[in-house]
Amino acid sequence: MPANKPPVTDWENDFDHCDATYTADPFPIWENLRAQCPVAHSDRYGRVWVPTRQEDIHKVAYNPESFSSKTVVITGLLPVGDEGLEAPPITSDPPFHTDFRRILLPAFGPKLIAEWEPRIRALANSRIDTFIEKGKCDAAAEYAKQIPVTVIALMVGVPPEDGDLFTEWVHQLLEVSPTDPEAATEGLGSMISYLSAKIAERRASPQDDLISTLLEAEIEGEKLSDMRILGTVILLMLAGIDTTWSSIGAGLWHLSHHPDDLARLVDDPKLMDTAVEEFLRAYAPVTMAREVVKETQLGGETLCPGDKLLLPFPAGNRDPAAFPDADKVLIDRAVNRHHAFGAGIHRCLGSNLARLELSVALEEFIRRIPAFHLADPAAVTWSSGQVRGPRALPLVFDSVKS
Ligand code: HEM
Repeated sequence: MPANKPPVTDWENDFDHCDATYTADPFPIWENLRAQCPVAHSDRYGRVWVPTRQEDIHKVAYNPESFSSKTVVITGLLPVGDEGLEAPPITSDPPFHTDFRRILLPAFGPKLIAEWEPRIRALANSRIDTFIEKGKCDAAAEYAKQIPVTVIALMVGVPPEDGDLFTEWVHQLLEVSPTDPEAATEGLGSMISYLSAKIAERRASPQDDLISTLLEAEIEGEKLSDMRILGTVILLMLAGIDTTWSSIGAGLWHLSHHPDDLARLVDDPKLMDTAVEEFLRAYAPVTMAREVVKETQLGGETLCPGDKLLLPFPAGNRDPAAFPDADKVLIDRAVNRHHAFGAGIHRCLGSNLARLELSVALEEFIRRIPAFHLADPAAVTWSSGQVRGPRALPLVFDSVKS
């Protein structure tokens, strides 16, 4: 049964990353917390701490000895298998993490990722072709969601035609799981059956894809266990879909109600590089979690082994101590050392791909639809939980080029 939690009235002591007010507008909540505590607390999903200053988030991200990645999602998912489902490298700690990450690194390096550009551009245009003549679209569902799911399916080696199935599982695992663990566990069960069958197919007939890479890989002379391969494929699907979907959507959402920024980008496409970094900073979608394994002080609080932490990189990116005019979105911001992709040893492995998808998706959209606005600001909805981005984004086009 879904756990219906009451709305939060005390963010300092009863924080909830799934609360509707937080989902709609987390920015003032972080601002108040940074000034007040600055590490919030909650007992809603076990004992959970929430640092909100960039400095404290850094301390956690750079200290895997005290803050383990064995818990990266605050969820009520039921355990799978005897020891639960691991999803390395994201759920592992050194030294295993280092060896495992090395297996995936080459496929996500800048050179190999750059080769995907023409396909991503063609994909973006084929999506635009489906709605441009209507003069409107839901840019979250019909555009932002479609590009990352297709690309990661091709990379992993699963049929892109099953994209709707993958996005539904992602929704269940990331959004539904904290409030309705049973439904989410059922979703995970279907995902496991589907992906296990695909892994078995690849074992019989290897291809040039990430499932085959994982099947061939060895750590200290030993092949990876089936459970680890499965967990990693699930991770790649989750990490590759929801995140970039959210970023593309947030970029378009911003441009839909900042016509000056839209016009500047249309007139001067070279601005796209700094605009992409600024959208990543200001609308960073991903909050991770950690589990305390050594007693540690943070922001005046004592964190004990077994406690969990949310690591809101998006809150750090809005910290005025780290960024001048932190709450302003400046598409030509010159210095922008944001942590949308995390920090430390788990820094995003897919950042080259994410940047490419985000730039190409925005470039092609504004090239063909150089003026657009929100059909109804009240109709925009955002995903809740640890990945935040628009899930309904109805736009009306003011000018189009076929
Ligand atoms: C805008 C899009 C993206 C954002 C904002 C993002 C953000 C992040 C963040 C914050 C982390 C750090 C996790 C931690 O500290 O525990 C991470 C890790 C990771 N990301 Fe991304 N990500 C994005 C896109 C992608 C894509 C497209 C992929 C491709 C599969 C990907 C794959 C991964 C993987 C495998 C890790 C784990 C790395 C490790 O544990 O060593 N991400 N991402």
